[in-house]
Amino acid sequence: MAVVRLDNLSKRYTGTADAAVDRVSFTVADGEFMVLLGPSGCGKSTTLRMIAGLEAISEGALWIDGRQVNTVPAKDRDIAMVFQSYALYPHMTVRDNLAFGLRRRDVAKAEIERRVALAASILGLEPLLERKPFALSGGQRQRVALGRAIVREPKVFLFDEPLSNLDAALRVATRNELVKLHRRLGVTMIYVTHDQVEAMTMGQRICVMNRGRVAQIGAPLEVYRNPADAFVARFLGSPPMNLFPATLRTDGGRALAAAGTHAIPLERWRTEALSPGREVLCGIRPEAFEIAGRTTAGTATVTGSLSAIEPLGAETLLLVDLGPGVGEVTARVRDDVDAPIGSTMALSFQPASVYLFDRTSELAIPAEGRA
Ligand SMILES: Nc1ncnc2c1ncn2[C@@H]1O[C@H](COP(=O)(O)OP(=O)(O)O)[C@@H](O)[C@H]1O
Ligand SMILES: [Mg+2]
Repeated sequence: MAVVRLDNLSKRYTGTADAAVDRVSFTVADGEFMVLLGPSGCGKSTTLRMIAGLEAISEGALWIDGRQVNTVPAKDRDIAMVFQSYALYPHMTVRDNLAFGLRRRDVAKAEIERRVALAASILGLEPLLERKPFALSGGQRQRVALGRAIVREPKVFLFDEPLSNLDAALRVATRNELVKLHRRLGVTMIYVTHDQVEAMTMGQRICVMNRGRVAQIGAPLEVYRNPADAFVARFLGSPPMNLFPATLRTDGGRALAAAGTHAIPLERWRTEALSPGREVLCGIRPEAFEIAGRTTAGTATVTGSLSAIEPLGAETLLLVDLGPGVGEVTARVRDDVDAPIGSTMALSFQPASVYLFDRTSELAIPAEGRA
């Protein structure tokens, strides 16, 4: 059992004005895989290091298994941490690298052998046990680093961007291995990344952080479909959600968002909830757009000037300039597009796919139906 609970955890580094971590609260359930996601500098590593005991907690309380551990030293927290840069002992074999930490802790020899053999089998390291780190690939070294965490059989695993140093293909493969590892061990894991694809594919829940604070916590698709604010809306999804300023209006009893020369119909909100004149940010995901004329009825359309085409093979990104007040939006379509730059391009979308955020607070304006 290892429930990790952060209760208004803050970190203030000496000599800095703003808190690096500002009253962060969440609870990671026993056996859960939780991802901390956010841009560089938002406080992910600091949060993780406070959980590990590598960084003193300025304010708030940290609980592991119902015990407050604010002042418990790192070595007594029963936590293993894997970093982006993992230092293996270069003069030791893989086997000794795996066993070293256990020997230092005076674990019995037979028990060390059992744990090393188990970790090696889980990670496919058996053929490499007698090698030294210089004779391993980057991916194999990272697996040894993981193995060193596994042999400790900790209550909680913490990962700080452990895949950042791997190339793209290996990152995907290792990502899948980590998910399998989590399933197999059933241990609580907290995983830090700035990569939204990693977060979406690995996390059972994602905690999105922005400037030291929690922006939103939820299951990946829940956060993707119902972003709490414009920051989360931009951060999850690639390319990011198109966001442009608009003013709410009614036209013959129907609500719409006026943006530049465009009128975006609003279907998901009760008209009473939309006060005319309210300044908002209107959001439409690139994948919600299609090239007009190729879809069924019930859609709305915006028309602009094609400014770029990016063919990606399976799909095509179109940059379309919707004119003053809106600017360029990105559409992500399945079709191949063969149209001259500068030509008129009409994009259609379902009004139910539109998001609204308050212009000042950038908080989502809650809708009735699903996006
Ligand atoms: N030892 C430190 N002393 C002072 N400021 C720090 C220290 N470590 C991190 N910071 C600052 O705290 C903020 C959060 O950093 P960090 O937790 O490393 O972010 P992330 O891991 O999300 O990139 C940043 O503004 C960073 O510059
Ligand atoms: Mg970091």
